[in-house]
Amino acid sequence: MKPTLRDIPLMQELLSPFVQDGIILQRDADEIATNIRSYEVIKKDNQIIAIGALHIYSQTLAEIRSLAVNSLYQKQGFGAQIMHALEQEARNLGVKSLLVLTYQSNFFKRLGFVEIPKEQVPEHKVWSDCIKCRHFPNCNEISLIKTI
Ligand SMILES: CC(C)(COP(=O)(O)OP(=O)(O)OC[C@H]1O[C@@H](n2cnc3c(N)ncnc32)[C@H](O)[C@@H]1OP(=O)(O)O)[C@@H](O)C(=O)NCCC(=O)NCCS
Repeated sequence: MKPTLRDIPLMQELLSPFVQDGIILQRDADEIATNIRSYEVIKKDNQIIAIGALHIYSQTLAEIRSLAVNSLYQKQGFGAQIMHALEQEARNLGVKSLLVLTYQSNFFKRLGFVEIPKEQVPEHKVWSDCIKCRHFPNCNEISLIKTI
């Protein structure tokens, strides 16, 4: 489902351990609010257990961002469910390619993503996001793309 602005504290709560581990980039509440329409969440018992965002860069390219599932709920298909919703939304909007930078390459490969060399990561991404990351420029994430 699409979250509302009222869900932001719960979204941050879910993301917080992954941000602490340096797996997901920190985004403050205002940045999440600005992009609230890009998110998809799954709720259970008044808690957000899964989240992901579709960030559009251009007429053809979008990125999967902030994909995370509460550790108690992983390996039950919730990550794939968020991905299907985001991919469907991307298709409806006319997006042609989905980009992701991740440490979880097998998960994305199973969903049809293929690895690309770092040098092919669009500059939009590097200059808007990577530059904010504590691992920049020595990034070990794998870049993958899917044509949809
Ligand atoms: C990556 C992540 C989002 C996946 O979420 P998830 O809900 O565990 O994903 P799924 O359950 O859909 O799939 C995970 C695995 O569980 C398996 N699985 C799914 N349902 C299952 C079930 N009922 N029983 C056993 N295994 C199952 C899937 O086959 C999949 O295997 P794979 O990783 O080898 O492809 C989650 O591990 C996570 O939050 N990781 C930390 C944050 C992160 O790295 N995010 C990616 C940043 S881009």
